[in-house]
Amino acid sequence: MSAMINILFLAAEAEPFVKIGGLADVAGSLPLALRALPFQPAHEDAFDVRLVLPLHRAILAQANTLRPVAEFLVYRRGGNIPVQVFQTSSGGMLVYFIDGAPLSSTPSVYSSDLASDCEKYAFFSLAALELTRHLDWQPDIIHANDWHTALALYGLRSRQSTDPALMHIRTVFTIHNLPYMGGECADVLSAYGLRPLNDAYLPGWAQTQPLPLGLWAADAIVPVSPTYAREILTPNFGCGLDPYLKTRTNCITGILNGLDVNCWNPATDTTLAARFNPDELPVRTINKIALQKALELKEDASVPLLVMIGRIDQQKGLDITFDTLRQMKDRTWQFVVLGSGDPTLENAARNLQADFPDCVRAVIRYDAFLSHLLYGGADIFLMPSRYEPCGLAQMIAMHYGCIPVVHSTGGLEDTVQEGKTGFLFQEAEAGFMMEALERALSIYSAPEKWQRLQQNGMREDFSWHRSARQYADIYKSILSD
Ligand code: GLC
Repeated sequence: MSAMINILFLAAEAEPFVKIGGLADVAGSLPLALRALPFQPAHEDAFDVRLVLPLHRAILAQANTLRPVAEFLVYRRGGNIPVQVFQTSSGGMLVYFIDGAPLSSTPSVYSSDLASDCEKYAFFSLAALELTRHLDWQPDIIHANDWHTALALYGLRSRQSTDPALMHIRTVFTIHNLPYMGGECADVLSAYGLRPLNDAYLPGWAQTQPLPLGLWAADAIVPVSPTYAREILTPNFGCGLDPYLKTRTNCITGILNGLDVNCWNPATDTTLAARFNPDELPVRTINKIALQKALELKEDASVPLLVMIGRIDQQKGLDITFDTLRQMKDRTWQFVVLGSGDPTLENAARNLQADFPDCVRAVIRYDAFLSHLLYGGADIFLMPSRYEPCGLAQMIAMHYGCIPVVHSTGGLEDTVQEGKTGFLFQEAEAGFMMEALERALSIYSAPEKWQRLQQNGMREDFSWHRSARQYADIYKSILSD
């Protein structure tokens, strides 16, 4: 029998409303991909997925079609907090925005003040849970993402045994980044009436942090790649939760994120100087020369152009790239780093440019336009991330014929194939990276072989459809348990 399964999907950020990191790409695409799964009566279930987001100030500034749908109170010691919920529709999907004092008092999506973020996202999570009582639509599943929404699952679990309205709801928790747990927030938990947990398996320090509480409460735990799902069970990547996660292995399934192939398509991308498909790769050179010109690098199609794009953060291993390039100073290459973040690493990027003024450009800013041209014109994409739950940039790079050289970890290991679509190295260290880069450069000097790698990458299927099917299987399995 087929049925309609209702999913309430909670996230702190989502395209096209607000984007800080990769979470927004996933929360913007996965719900729509689930809704689009082909429905065959009698065979398949269909999914009515609805998204819930905080009404961040940045969203309010651009919103003009928000319709009020509910008003209620969320319990907080010392004075219940009024909640206003608004609704809009995006790509045919209903999206709810939650507003209330803890959200309206902060201008940014995340701050460096853990305590205030914890208050804000505890409020958001519990208001989203309470919303289920104020709609003429009931979720079968609440799907939370990362620490920001984890307390909706914990709140649900704590109330489920005494509240018939919530009893039937099952839960999925997607982990995009395990080390960000939300911080110690025992006071906030008790202020919102959440009872302390006492579970012998979860370490004491974890029992007052949102992410571990979400893991504890979830029926299904989904890290964003199969390799990351295995890695978090080890001391190197488990952040102290590996012993607990090992007790939950039956509930853990890694599912690789997809790529929004409508947005990332080199054949239709109007921000490129020249568009191309896998059969007309020489056209890419126009983009490469345009880049070299724009960045005042020597205009020479034969010099390998290496790039890094994204958040400048310890996780991403920029220092490893910088060491590698310094060690390869006698080779011919050009290197561009685009992004912003950690001031120390930003300075290290500027220093590299100062030391290699002819062949390095450190472009320290967020620049979507330039990033497209880099994907579509550069030759090699460097991603020496220390850990990478999934990673999106390597998939975009492959789709744009820019060959990835990556640390063999998490989603990088699951998406890049050595010698077929890119190059991998085993340890996040300059010596290992250098060997992989040397392998890449030696193939780069054989254009026909290089083109084959580019074509292989461009033809990989990274569509969201495949991931959505796997999530659909998880939803169905937890509902039938
Ligand atoms: C986080 C992870 C990244 C992942 C993204 C979306 O930003 O660091 O690896 O791709 O979430 O799941």
